[in-house]
Amino acid sequence: SKIDVFAALGGNPVIPVLVVEDVAHAVPMAKALVAGGLTALEVTLRTDCALSVIERIANEVPEAIIGVGTVTRPEQFDEVKKAGAQFVVSPGLTPTLAQAALDNEMPYLPGAVTASEVIRAMELGITDLKFFPAGTSGGAAALKGFSTVFAGVRFCPTGGVKPGNMADYLSLPNVVTVGGTWLVTSEMMNNGEWSEITRIAAEARAQADGILA
Ligand code: 3PG
Repeated sequence: SKIDVFAALGGNPVIPVLVVEDVAHAVPMAKALVAGGLTALEVTLRTDCALSVIERIANEVPEAIIGVGTVTRPEQFDEVKKAGAQFVVSPGLTPTLAQAALDNEMPYLPGAVTASEVIRAMELGITDLKFFPAGTSGGAAALKGFSTVFAGVRFCPTGGVKPGNMADYLSLPNVVTVGGTWLVTSEMMNNGEWSEITRIAAEARAQADGILA
């Protein structure tokens, strides 16, 4: 049966999307985010060390809820589950990927940006969706349109989401959380700016909680 992926996110209203180039950054980065009040994070499979990053965080930062993003092949579900993934994010959706999520009993957040893509997801039993790339797919106005025709479908927009437009998205009834890369840049990690990451995370958390209150 279906797993509530937003419940798996533990009420986190903002999900940092992470592109980690150096495995040594994994633990201080995850600790910095948790200290700032963002406990769910998405490690993208866009770098060679991504699986090692997930393993390190799973072993050393138990407070972190570890998601794995940029999953595009069904066999990756098994790999990331073994590494410690607690939820999986894909930029799009196919029946093969939906089945892999079910087979692995993995909370799953796949992408959909058109009405037909949303309907196909519903046909596969999936009503919790990523909306990516949000900014170029009609943004908050498109999601507002979806809220009137797809009651019960909930979204996490990512792609172009920033502090300046977070409220446009989070104030919609069908948006539960937002995600983005602005919280942790490679520059911050390379420079070891862990307290700056904590500050930005805390700011985003406070802003989001204020909008959702
Ligand atoms: C994602 O994988 O969701 C995107 O890379 C996030 O997009 P952003 O860089 O615009 O935040």
